[in-house]
Amino acid sequence: MSHGNGPATPAGSRAGAALKGRLRVPGDKSISHRSMIFGLLSIGETRVEGLLEGDDVLRTAEACKALGAHITREGPGRWRIRGVGIGGLTQPEGVLDFGNAGTGSRLMMGVAGSHPVTATFDGDASLRKRPMRRILDPLVKMGVQVVSEAEGGRVPLTLRGPRETVPITYETPAASAQIKSAILLAGLNSPGRTTVVEREATRDHTERMLRHFGASVEVAPHGQDGRSITLQGQPELRGSDIVVPGDPSSAAFPLVAALIVPGSDIVIEGVMMNPLRTGLITTLLEMGASIEALNERDEGGESVADLRVRSSRLRGVTVPAGRAPAMIDEYPILAVAASFAQGTTRMQGLHELRVKESDRLAAVAAGLDEAGVDHEIDGDDLIVHGAGGPVRGGGNPVATHLDHRIAMAFLVMGLATREPMTVDDGAMIATSFPTFIPLMRELGATIDG
Ligand code: S3P
Repeated sequence: MSHGNGPATPAGSRAGAALKGRLRVPGDKSISHRSMIFGLLSIGETRVEGLLEGDDVLRTAEACKALGAHITREGPGRWRIRGVGIGGLTQPEGVLDFGNAGTGSRLMMGVAGSHPVTATFDGDASLRKRPMRRILDPLVKMGVQVVSEAEGGRVPLTLRGPRETVPITYETPAASAQIKSAILLAGLNSPGRTTVVEREATRDHTERMLRHFGASVEVAPHGQDGRSITLQGQPELRGSDIVVPGDPSSAAFPLVAALIVPGSDIVIEGVMMNPLRTGLITTLLEMGASIEALNERDEGGESVADLRVRSSRLRGVTVPAGRAPAMIDEYPILAVAASFAQGTTRMQGLHELRVKESDRLAAVAAGLDEAGVDHEIDGDDLIVHGAGGPVRGGGNPVATHLDHRIAMAFLVMGLATREPMTVDDGAMIATSFPTFIPLMRELGATIDG
């Protein structure tokens, strides 16, 4: 079992040449996890192309195998999954160890918890701190038994599922695609209609993939910004082909790097442009960034584009709280961009950042302190007073707290600071973007790690 106690791998970056060239970031993490899960729950074969082969997704694949799926790797990013179908899960033998993966563990609680098996979930020191009550509460309403849990509703925890779950209508207490998805996945093994109501729309990959695999899903607007999603339970999901588009949350790092390193001009190919994921691009465009979406097209049911990004003079903006779900993983790198901007950037309503792989609000603030960036936290808002040019950098190594996005954000920052930046541990980058350092080096970045 991993507890995040492996050797730390410090990494560092410093300013150098302009970034030039073309790159393709790995497949989207959210869709990659779901590819494995839908493969498991389908009858027949699912073929996936462009799967993110990061540690998080590989943990989900292992869990799906433990529950009965037959999974093979055919080549780089090419995987085949032979599923067992809804209701067909087998009793896993050992603990399901999800490492650092919040999405994998939470979605799989909905999957395993809705079947008559007993499953124990665990993970690393970061995952053991993350709240799971938000998933367990609705699952309990659906008839799932929480056999044991660590203090405060955390992993390690054990679930025992019923023969079939009770369909419910549930309004999510936080804007979270993970809560929504866990309930919908559990609703697959319900004899009736399961409805999730969200006050603010969150990423809709589960809904799209449910339809793609043959389930009936109705989506209706709810209030000003929300949605109500209803799934008809116990469909027969059929194995399907999936092409995983490039992950916008990974593309965010080279994108901001090109904006802040003077003279840069890069193209990031095949980035998913699902509007529920493009909040960072919207914000950067408002800040004056030069980002062009070229060759927009549809790939495997998602729109994708090649993004041409040129270094730009940025200015501070206010980012409304309502945009948070569409860029929830991008605030660390936005804070980096804001540090170089002219004027103040206020990022509103970031309470959900406190329960990510680390307390990201605190981790970003501590990193900005090291780099000499003027900033404040005001309630749930992060306020960055940009330097309007190069930032000092330097300082002590930034503490990453087992958080891949904190590590990548501050390595990107160091590409444009006056003094080099270091992070205490770059090992976790492998959870979501294993090729980050080599791809950045190919663009001309100086990163050691
Ligand atoms: C994800 C949902 C988001 C996001 C995570 C991936 C998903 O989490 O931060 O990286 O794939 O459903 P929340 O649902 O907790 O906001």
